[in-house]
Amino acid sequence: MVPPFAAEDRNAYLERVGVALDDFLRGEHADPMTRRDQWTGALERPLPDEGIGGKGVIDELVRDVVPNGGRFNEPGFWEWITTAPTAVAVAASLAATVASPQRYTLTAFNYLEELSLEWLAQLCGLGSSMKGVYSSGGSVANLVALGAARQWALEQRGIDSAAEGLGATRAAIYASAESHHTIMRSAGVLGLGRRSVRLIPSDEQQRLNPVALARALEVDKGQGVVPLAVVATAGTTNTGAIDPLRECGEVARRYGAWFHVDGAYGLLGILDDRVRPLYDGLELADSVIVDPHKWLGAPTGIAATFVRDRSILHRAFTQEPADYLEGSFSDPANARSSLESMGIPYADFGVELSSPARGVIVWSILRELGRSGVTRRIQRDNDFARQLAEAVRSNDRLELLSEPVLSICCFRYRRDGIVDLDSLNKQVHRRLLRETPYLPSTTVVNGSFGLRPCFINPRTSSEHVDGLADAVVRLGDELTSS
Ligand SMILES: Cc1ncc(COP(=O)(O)O)c(C=O)c1O
Repeated sequence: MVPPFAAEDRNAYLERVGVALDDFLRGEHADPMTRRDQWTGALERPLPDEGIGGKGVIDELVRDVVPNGGRFNEPGFWEWITTAPTAVAVAASLAATVASPQRYTLTAFNYLEELSLEWLAQLCGLGSSMKGVYSSGGSVANLVALGAARQWALEQRGIDSAAEGLGATRAAIYASAESHHTIMRSAGVLGLGRRSVRLIPSDEQQRLNPVALARALEVDKGQGVVPLAVVATAGTTNTGAIDPLRECGEVARRYGAWFHVDGAYGLLGILDDRVRPLYDGLELADSVIVDPHKWLGAPTGIAATFVRDRSILHRAFTQEPADYLEGSFSDPANARSSLESMGIPYADFGVELSSPARGVIVWSILRELGRSGVTRRIQRDNDFARQLAEAVRSNDRLELLSEPVLSICCFRYRRDGIVDLDSLNKQVHRRLLRETPYLPSTTVVNGSFGLRPCFINPRTSSEHVDGLADAVVRLGDELTSS
């Protein structure tokens, strides 16, 4: 019998999957929904009593699964804030899966976890004073940051909230109406309740209004509500707006609240000189998040939370000591075996114990591109949004809904005499997805429904951007003249 991990099997498996992925990336297959019956028919089976063996699985993987994957790799894919990973990042991810399936113990992977966090902090203008921890995405990264805020705010009042809960304390989080919904979910998970998030109105450019923010804090102060955190977004999901960080941070300070900046998408925008001034005040942040799986093109599953002092994370998230984990660890400096220490105890800085090594992936991207390569990519994507805005402005069948700040451009089809532009643009969007290679998502800006391409896809070129504008005009014309 062939041993399950024979090198010849392993290499043959990787080679076959690699060939199938190359085919897939050529993008010559139609959308998987056009042959749904075929692949659901092939995959629909009861739990097998007997396995089919590795080769059988690889056969099914390359035949029935890979060719029916998602469209995230296509150059015209601009939905939400997600893209397919780049080649080096995929290779690094595979290497980590095999060579370090956990981020702990004293290995090169544990080392790169920290080094890459330091690089990321420097790249994003956080300097060297902030320390980080990786987690699975912006949702968890926000949760970790707000967990630190909860710990800090209640410690000031003599309560260890991680150990004792909130007791009778009433607390609130302040974020703009345009902030990501994970802020509310975090408040729910942290025992504050979703309704403890005060959604502060934003201005007509979708930025948090600091006057309204101060007013909400003042009202709560009068009612004995603890101001837990002010959340500003550096790059909102809907339009890419950047909240006025300095003013928000100063209001947070004045009321004794933690200041959190959600830069899941937009923090890297600081690399573009044209928008860098909008990040003024970032240094006031007590916590900041950024998602390498967004604009850096890392595989899905990587976000980073940064705080000034990780001991607050330790107090907020440490597990109680566990016999099976304490072992006979020694000081990492004196260790002679990689298993004598967990290395930096990331598991105590967040909510995950088992976790993949993610740092090697971020390291691989930053080594591949360097600061200048990442900067060029960010500027190019911001250029795409501006190019599209220009095309929209120069065509009277198109209407700009938000002036691009980063790499999102919201716009829609319009035509004199058509009243229900929302429905019309929903139809245009449906037809884009079904009939064209241009795949934006949609949103509502100041009450108007529109198309919302977010350019973070490294495969996009300027022709694709023009192609989108042309396709929207063509489809809108067809729909309105039929
Ligand atoms: C500003 C912002 N924060 C948080 C998130 C949540 O990130 P994730 O989807 O990685 O959990 C997103 C997602 O798009 C986002 O845009």
